[in-house]
Parts: sequence; C-alpha cells; structure tokens
Amino acid sequence: MSPAPYRVEILHGVNLNMLGERDPLHYGTLTLAGLDAQIAKWAKELGLHASFFQTNAESEYIERLHSLRGQTDGVILNPGSWTHYAYAIHDALELTGLLAVEVHLSDVQAREPWRRLSVIGDLCLATYSGKGPDGYRLALGRLHEEFGGGDT
Ligand code: DQA
Repeated sequence: MSPAPYRVEILHGVNLNMLGERDPLHYGTLTLAGLDAQIAKWAKELGLHASFFQTNAESEYIERLHSLRGQTDGVILNPGSWTHYAYAIHDALELTGLLAVEVHLSDVQAREPWRRLSVIGDLCLATYSGKGPDGYRLALGRLHEEFGGGDT
C-alpha cells in the first residue's frame, strides 16, 4: 500500500473570494474557483493532497488555523490585507507549529508602503509575492521539498 499523501491546506483570507473582479493588473483574471482548481492540479502532480479554505472573517481564519493542528502537514497562507497588521493571525499560526509558506499574487513590495510589512513572514519557510498563481506552485514545491521531496 502506498503511504497517504502529505496534506496541504491553502488558506485564502479577506477579499480573495472576489478574485476575477479585483484589479487584474495586480491579481490577474482567474476566479478563486479557477485558482483553486489550478492549485489542486499542481498539488496532484507533486503527490500532495490539497484542501482549501476562504473567509472574510478574521476570527474564522484563526479558528481554522487552530483546527488544523494535527490535521494537515503544511499550510499555504495568503491572508490578503490581514497580512500587514493582523498579529492575531501570526500568533495563531505560531501555536499550530505547522510548516507554512506565504503567497501573494501581487508584488506587495512594489505597491503602497503599508503592504511591505508581513506579520507572518517570520513564521514561514518562504514568501512568494508578485508571481501570480505561479506563487502557489512554488509554495507547493517548497513544502514538497520540506516533506522530503519523494518521487510522485
Ligand atoms: C494580496 C496582497 C495584499 O496586500 C492585498 O490586501 C490582498 C491580496 C495578494 O495576494 O497580492 O488582498 O495578499
């Protein structure tokens, strides 16, 4: 019997349900459903199992992080604008002890100054920003490497 695949949860934060309607110059044209389908495909190619969560309520994002303890092997976070100020998300991620990677579709370093701070960056193995959907492929690859990078 082959071992169970490593599990990765993709945690989309505030306003990411509006992809497809947000500024395409920053966020592209994919809807969230389209993005998740693409991520699921990339995960499968790496032999990973992807699950998805999106909310516009910070408390739900935090509750979801709490519930993931022991339920997943890694997380990919794009908290949207919470990234820049929500220290409660930092603390929730920290207490999970989960392997984490941060992704932003847009290049947060090249936009307004307030987007340059990430309150979760210090807890993440890597941050991919400004690479569009491909950032999620890179994030999956980084976690796969961390899991031991076995054959798929
Ligand atoms: C974002 C960047 C954030 O600054 C912004 O508030 C978002 C999306 C991104 O994916 O580029 O909502 O996280």
